[in-house]
Amino acid sequence: MVIEKSTPLKGVVRISGAKNSALPILVASLLADGETVIEEVPILKDVSVICELIRHLGAEVILDGEREKAIIRTDGIKVFETPHHLVKQMRASILSMGVLLARCGKVRISMPGGCAIGIRPIDLHLKGFQKLGAEINLGCGFVEASCRKLRGNNIYLDFPSVGATENIMMAAVLADGETVIENAAEEPEIVDLANFLNEMGAKISGAGTKIIKIEGVKNLNPCNHIIIPDRIEAGTYMVASAITGGDVIIENVIPCHLRPITAKLLEAGMMVEEYENSIRVQGKKPINPVDIKTMPYPGFPTDMQPQMMSMLCIASGTSIVTETVFENRFMHVGELKRMGARIKIEGRSAVIDGIESLSGAPVKATDLRAGAALVLAGLIADGYTEVYDVHHIDRGYVKMVEKLKNLGAKIWREEA
Ligand code: UD1
Repeated sequence: MVIEKSTPLKGVVRISGAKNSALPILVASLLADGETVIEEVPILKDVSVICELIRHLGAEVILDGEREKAIIRTDGIKVFETPHHLVKQMRASILSMGVLLARCGKVRISMPGGCAIGIRPIDLHLKGFQKLGAEINLGCGFVEASCRKLRGNNIYLDFPSVGATENIMMAAVLADGETVIENAAEEPEIVDLANFLNEMGAKISGAGTKIIKIEGVKNLNPCNHIIIPDRIEAGTYMVASAITGGDVIIENVIPCHLRPITAKLLEAGMMVEEYENSIRVQGKKPINPVDIKTMPYPGFPTDMQPQMMSMLCIASGTSIVTETVFENRFMHVGELKRMGARIKIEGRSAVIDGIESLSGAPVKATDLRAGAALVLAGLIADGYTEVYDVHHIDRGYVKMVEKLKNLGAKIWREEA
């Protein structure tokens, strides 16, 4: 992607359905036989991968890109193994574990990166399955779980992991008896998944709080569901407006999901107005420096940390951004520094000394949100910014170039 320094962005942008809701919900559709229809499905690379996974497990999937709709038809699950080429492409493939355990009583999943580094990040998922009565077998490069019938239990998560909460919830809906997840993740995507499962006939209460109760049922029925709007995509356009001194109305949002982002933009001196299904952000100068600490929801989302950092690079003072959710999420810092940013990393914190302006440079999107941060930086950098490896951006942003162009940005794609 090439981005030329832009004038203030202006206009209206519509937000797509939430990627992080769509992925678990598409997988969860396998819990019932029959036809499930899901609307507001963001047409993204990650969604295609999860659809490929569902097809591999034996369902028919029609992904209607024009209507942003997925139709899933299941008639029993034929396969209980998730292959390496899919898990390698997307870690969220591990969300199939809970569903396969619940429906087939066994699952074998390939681990990306081999046993040494692969197992640790799903320890909470596995501990949860064990509590539900599954036997876990860790092989080199794969993990197997099996059980005769899952039984409800009390599960305390050491950390409110989004994926572990979802995986355990999906396993527990068909278990015998009651499961209680304590210190559960409270993200809106957890609530969306719980609503979807309840529409299928599950009995889940407390989603969106730290304690989720799941009363197991005998079977589930297919249903129709509409995915919630993507709060991270919305947050990214909020920052796009703020950083360029623009005036953008972001439509199809749930404003309360955006509060942690709104609070920081207000602190930075921006004007933010909330409406029922939209939010208006007006960028103001100077940008005040702000300190940010990423936390599980309702704290500030780690998935918005890189984008906010781009804005703080041109704040009128020093900001400190502390990352507490992921160990190594400052890959964008090196790239922002190539554009002239003054950032020092000290352990889990980045100290950002605001400067007048950034300079366009060739930079690399090391991951999805880092890529978004570089595009935002490109909007205000002098000259041209070339962002390479934009396939990462395509994993999570529907038609980003088109949406930004509609707001007046000068951005385009070039063949490598
Ligand atoms: C989800 C989101 C991702 C977001 C993250 C945190 C999806 C598809 N992805 O990822 O965009 O950045 O939540 O909001 O919804 N951990 C363990 N052991 C586990 C599980 C997690 O140590 O068993 C650690 C992870 O390494 C990480 C932290 O917990 O440091 C948070 O991970 P988690 O909440 O599970 O994130 P994901 O579900 O992978």
